[in-house]
Amino acid sequence: MEKKHIPILIFSFFLLKHIAGANADCSPASCGPNEPHVRFPFRILDLQPARCGFPGFDLSCDEQNQTIIQLPSSSLPYIVNSISYLEQLIYIDPGFCQPNRIVSVNITDTSFSDSNLMMQNYTFFNCSQNYSTLYPVVRFPCLSTGNYSVIAIVTDSYNPGYVPPNCEFMKRIVVPILPNGVLSQELELMWSTPYCKSCEREGISRGAIYGLSIGIGVPTLIFIISLAYYLSYKRKGHNGSHNQRVVEDNSGM
Ligand SMILES: *[C@@H]1O[C@H](CO)[C@@H](O)[C@H](O)[C@H]1NC(C)=O
Ligand SMILES: *[C@@H]1O[C@H](CO)[C@@H](O)[C@H](O)[C@H]1NC(C)=O
Ligand SMILES: *[C@@H]1O[C@H](CO)[C@@H](O)[C@H](O)[C@H]1NC(C)=O
Ligand SMILES: *[C@@H]1O[C@H](CO)[C@@H](O)[C@H](O)[C@H]1NC(C)=O
Ligand SMILES: *[C@@H]1O[C@H](CO)[C@@H](O)[C@H](O)[C@H]1NC(C)=O
Ligand SMILES: *[C@@H]1O[C@H](CO)[C@@H](O)[C@H](O)[C@H]1NC(C)=O
Repeated sequence: MEKKHIPILIFSFFLLKHIAGANADCSPASCGPNEPHVRFPFRILDLQPARCGFPGFDLSCDEQNQTIIQLPSSSLPYIVNSISYLEQLIYIDPGFCQPNRIVSVNITDTSFSDSNLMMQNYTFFNCSQNYSTLYPVVRFPCLSTGNYSVIAIVTDSYNPGYVPPNCEFMKRIVVPILPNGVLSQELELMWSTPYCKSCEREGISRGAIYGLSIGIGVPTLIFIISLAYYLSYKRKGHNGSHNQRVVEDNSGM
């Protein structure tokens, strides 16, 4: 190896160290021992640098060390119950069990406006014990007191004013829900961008890739150029065969 390549190799070495360091900063974080592991595309503000997350996927920790998400179109924060990176789903507690929290969940202008989610209208009723309804009901024992039960039914577009016998109208709300989803004590919100289902399956951290492109894009480019320069010099020098590996792109949408 010629002496003139040594500076390039030293430079590359420090770049590689920098890359490794950048990945270490983006290791998963959580608000508490039983809280969801947070990694790309999410990040916890104050715990993980901005480049570790995708814009619009910021989480934070509340005073009880619970993981929370603030949707831009809602003044109320939501507790994050869990995250499925493989299914690209985040499970949030809509907070219906807290006083005065039976409110619509608005995902307009958020990262969770996935086309698979549909907006569903629900009507909440406060019913005495012997109520009966024509529709399947979602029960909210957490809101029920004494001899009264709180239930929700999908608002029937043919009969939006339907009130089951022995029930009192409480509230009508709109929530995003998956086609087979059920309104219980949690909502599944889906995201489609960034799409990383196939790389999650293969165990490749998209955060590393994203972190590289955002955080150290230019130095990486310089590194690739200097590597290419070195390899082309080597090939010229040895005139050897070059095995080119075809990297299959199976990140199919
Ligand atoms: C939250 O976590 C911090 C540090 O991990 C701890 O000192 C604090 O007591 C926790 N607070 C609650 C309410 O659990
Ligand atoms: C949801 O929020 C957007 C603004 O972010 C607003 O324009 C829209 O009317 C809201 N939708 C509902 C159903 O409240
Ligand atoms: C839900 O209610 C709104 C009015 O509040 C209405 O415009 C919309 O069509 C309803 N959606 C469904 C699925 O019933
Ligand atoms: C349901 O109605 C009963 C009787 O009016 C009332 O005592 C109770 O507080 C109501 N429950 C809710 C959750 O509003
Ligand atoms: C049950 O409902 C009927 C009317 O449908 C009413 O007359 C009766 O008082 C109710 N019983 C109780 C225990 O609420
Ligand atoms: C529930 O109803 C029964 C009789 O129908 C009554 O004895 C009881 O006191 C009621 N409970 C409450 C908490 O109102």
